[in-house]
Amino acid sequence: MRSIKVGLIGFGTVGSGVVKIIRQNGDVIKERLGTDLELKKIVDLDITTPRPVKVEKSILSTNIDDIMEDPEIDIVIELIGGIEPAKTFILKSLEKGKHVVTANKALLAHHGNEIFEAAAKNGVDVGFEASVGGGIPLIRSIREGLVAEDIQVIYGILNGTANYILTRMTTDGASFSEALKEAQEKGYAEADPTLDIEGHDTAHKLAIMCALSFGGKIEFDKVHIEGITDIDQKDIQFASEFGYKIKLLAIGAETNGKIDMRVHPTMIPKDHVLSSVDGAYNAVFINGNAVGNIMLYGLGAGMMPTGSAVISDIVDMGRDILHGVNNRVPPLSFVDSSKNSVTYKPISEIKTRYYFRFEALDRPGVLSKISGILGKYNISISAVIQKGRQVAGSVPIVMLTHTAVEKNVRSALEEIDKLDVVKAPSKLIRIENGEAE
Ligand code: HSE
Repeated sequence: MRSIKVGLIGFGTVGSGVVKIIRQNGDVIKERLGTDLELKKIVDLDITTPRPVKVEKSILSTNIDDIMEDPEIDIVIELIGGIEPAKTFILKSLEKGKHVVTANKALLAHHGNEIFEAAAKNGVDVGFEASVGGGIPLIRSIREGLVAEDIQVIYGILNGTANYILTRMTTDGASFSEALKEAQEKGYAEADPTLDIEGHDTAHKLAIMCALSFGGKIEFDKVHIEGITDIDQKDIQFASEFGYKIKLLAIGAETNGKIDMRVHPTMIPKDHVLSSVDGAYNAVFINGNAVGNIMLYGLGAGMMPTGSAVISDIVDMGRDILHGVNNRVPPLSFVDSSKNSVTYKPISEIKTRYYFRFEALDRPGVLSKISGILGKYNISISAVIQKGRQVAGSVPIVMLTHTAVEKNVRSALEEIDKLDVVKAPSKLIRIENGEAE
């Protein structure tokens, strides 16, 4: 039987993982695929720096045409990341009739619709299991395992770097910068770590997951994004006193035909399953109307877990190639995503519970001024803590609310911040109970 031949573009952390796994687990992969998986060429700008895995010099090249122009290569693996030249290489591979496997969530979030159209036009497939949740088989689970479901809600911890930072800040009192440096050293962070800490990497992944779960195209621009850079030790401690942990959550939900897509620091109950997802681990909690609640959990970043997801796509495609079939499974699960009409809910319309921290003078009447404004906007308080006693300076006043409408919350905080007794911009963290509404 013919072998499946692949060309790898990008011999970095994940690329090295792919090579290592092919070498280490070649036998078991062959038993599952039914033939050899042959890594024919690796192209990278740098082919001299030592890698965690040794390869024969003859398969290394700096010339992209050694992959593009080789008619024997069935599958191109794109692991360089970023938008360009990754997009050009992928589109060119598809035009040449080659299948593509990528871990590039930023590229898919911004140009996935165009890439999937090009693949269909050329009768080839695009695999992107490694783009979301590293080694966790999330894409395939939603696209195939949950194909019977009307999915109601997804809650995800989808960025290992942000989760590592929040975990170190929560459990060890580490500083933000100390924890970020460690995550970078461990190889979890993006080349530009602002994508991790500002929530954009999580949002890239959420946009892909929502298209898979609810239909429609990938609509990254509809995701509301807030990162973790404003999270203070104080908030982590207050959250803990109220029985919550702070996680950077990706939330996708469908209510009354409208899709809510948002990424922000979120307080979730300490006893919720997602609260125990710590360090670089990722997890996705999904509620389907038939299956109920399920959770997928595992390492969301790193050389070997992400490499494993890349190979799962190669083997999947290899099986189809050997059977002479293509485009068997729609990339985003719905047969024609572009024709699905889907509407999105702006953040101003969401209803949830809130944590507020006000920095206010410790004087008679201050609490009633703040609660008066909240009452005016129909925001009902469920708990209050005031810590410390200050004659001159300000003290933190922390409140939790019952369910309120975001636009009312924004208006109320704007008014509260104008009070002369309030000394710093008020802090808001949304609270989720982690269940479908
Ligand atoms: N930077 C990402 C993370 C890598 O920290 O999770 C995986 O996409």
